[in-house]
Order: sequence, then C-alpha cells, then structure tokens
Amino acid sequence: MKEKLQQIKTEVTDLLAKTNDLEGLEQLRIRFLGKKGELTAVLKGMGQLSAEERPVIGALANEVRSYLEQEIDSRKEELSAKMQEEKLKKEVIDVTMPGKKQELGKLHPLTQVLDEIKNIFVGLGFQIAEGPEVEYDYYNFEALNIPKNHPARDTQDTFYIEDNIVLRTQTSPMQVRVMEKQKPPIRILAPGRVYRSDAVDATHSPVFHQVEGLVVDKGVTMADLKGTLEAFIKELYGADAKVRFRPHHFPFTEPSAEMDVSCFVCGGEGCRVCKGEGWIEILGCGMVHPKVLANCGIDPEEYSGFAFGLGLERVVMRRYGIDDLRLFFENDLRFLGQF
Ligand code: DAH
Repeated sequence: MKEKLQQIKTEVTDLLAKTNDLEGLEQLRIRFLGKKGELTAVLKGMGQLSAEERPVIGALANEVRSYLEQEIDSRKEELSAKMQEEKLKKEVIDVTMPGKKQELGKLHPLTQVLDEIKNIFVGLGFQIAEGPEVEYDYYNFEALNIPKNHPARDTQDTFYIEDNIVLRTQTSPMQVRVMEKQKPPIRILAPGRVYRSDAVDATHSPVFHQVEGLVVDKGVTMADLKGTLEAFIKELYGADAKVRFRPHHFPFTEPSAEMDVSCFVCGGEGCRVCKGEGWIEILGCGMVHPKVLANCGIDPEEYSGFAFGLGLERVVMRRYGIDDLRLFFENDLRFLGQF
C-alpha cells in the first residue's frame, strides 16, 4: 500500500508536468482525488490493514493527499496566470492607433434661426404654442373670417384630406385654438409646418414653415404691434435695422399691414438681394378682426389684439444669402455643414 501511495505521488508529479490546460488538470484531479479516484480507492482499502499499520499508512495517505492537492492547486494557478498573459498579449490595444473621427451633428439652419426667434419672443413674455398640421376647415379658414367661396381660399392652394379637413395652409388657425382655450391676456408664438399645393421650384415648396404671433388683452393697439415687431427685428438683425409698414389686406385682421425690413445686405441703398428696393418684405400682421375674437368667445368690446405671421424659410434665406428653397429639404450634408 505504501508503494501504491508512492507510485501515485510520482505518477501525478509526472502527469502534472505534462498537463498544459485547465481542462486536463481537472481530469487529473478527478482521476486521483475524485470520489472514484485512485487515491480515494487506496484510502477505502485501509479498513483491511492491521492496527499497527493503519496509523502509519493513514499518515502517509494524508500526506500524499495534501501533496496532490497542493501540487494541483499550484499548477492550476500557474496555468491560469499563463493563459491570462497570453490572452492579454492577443488582445493588446495599440493606444497610438489613430481614432475614428466622430462627425458631430448640427441643428438644421431652419431650427437654428427658429430657436433664435423663439428666444426673442420668450424674452418678451410670449409662450410657445403648438397645434395640429391636419386641421379642420373651421380653424384654418372659417373661424378666421375666410368663409367658403372667399377669394382668399384660392390664393392658398389647399390640400384637402376630407371635405372639412385640410393640411393647414397657415399657422393662423393656432390663433383660434389658443383663444378658444385661454382667457386674455394672451401672448403666444406658434411656429410650425404649413402646406400648400405648390409645384417645387427655387421659391416654392408644398411644405414650409410659418411663425404665428398673437397678443390679446385689454387696450392693445397698433402701437403695441409696431413696438413689439420693431423690437423683434432689432434683436434679429441688429440695432441698425429699420422697419416700415405698408397697408395690406388679410381677412382675419383689420387694419392689416405688411412689414418690410431695411435690406441688411445694402442697408437700404438697393442691391441684388432686395432687388434694388432697399426693403425686404418679412411678415404680414394686423389688429385681430373683431369677428375673429367673437368667433372664439372673446368680447371685442372688451378686448383687442394684434397678430402676425412670418415665413421662416424667407428669413433664413435672406439671413444667409441662400437662393434656393430646395436646399433646406434635400439634407445634403455639404450644405447643412455650413451653418
Ligand atoms: N396667415 C397669413 C399667410 O399665410 C400670414 C398672416 C398675416 C398671419 C397677417 C397673421 C396676420 O397673423 O396677422 O399669408
């Protein structure tokens, strides 16, 4: 039995040296130290030994067992360390390699300028309002004093979804939606997409953006309209910018006007951008028509208001000297990257 134990010890020592992976090592452990292992078998045979032999062989068996355990453990550590090292060598990261350039996105020029416009009006105490692009005929036309067969409907080539549902042709329906819900004082700015059945060219697109403004309170006058819009323009184009108002007609305002800005390219001298005029038309505006107030349940005897509507693309085109509207919608990064 003593020999058998010695033999196991040498055999394991030999085998350990030849074992080069953790899997083989585990098999080795099972073969000798497992429940049905060779050393275990020897220990089980101890019962047949004489009373004198038993302690001697017992001590030796324990010694061999702890020797095996130790050897296997230390070999295991050795192998793990070696494998780890090889793995690290294989997975080494070359920190001197050039990185991949991450392209940073930018806001669309329309969004950039719209943000600027919103900030100016928020600074003047306006709140931002948003509403549906698929709109009832009632809000888009009827409530705005544009009844069926009104000539103003012809100038806004409308996309009809159903008889009484359209793609909004202007952001003005937001005036009605806000006034229906909110009691004066009202100061809102409503930017958004609008749709008209226009063929695409350098200055037309079936979808574009407007920014609507509405102020309703007691005692609001045309002077408030002029002062507010002038303050806005000086913020947007600089303190030197001048404005002028020309009489115009819109069904939902009375009186109505169009506002021009002194050409910010030539300062009013006349150039290619302002077509020699020195002025550039920038928005429509007016005092909210009493009928429109009444349609929304606001007493025109008690309250008055002003409204304006501005075409965002035009403002951005003039700001950057962009001469083709289509560029905004093509998503060409060579164009968008310039802003
Ligand atoms: N909705 C008009 C348009 O699309 C623009 C406009 C004019 C809006 C005068 C207004 C306004 O609020 O007062 O042509």
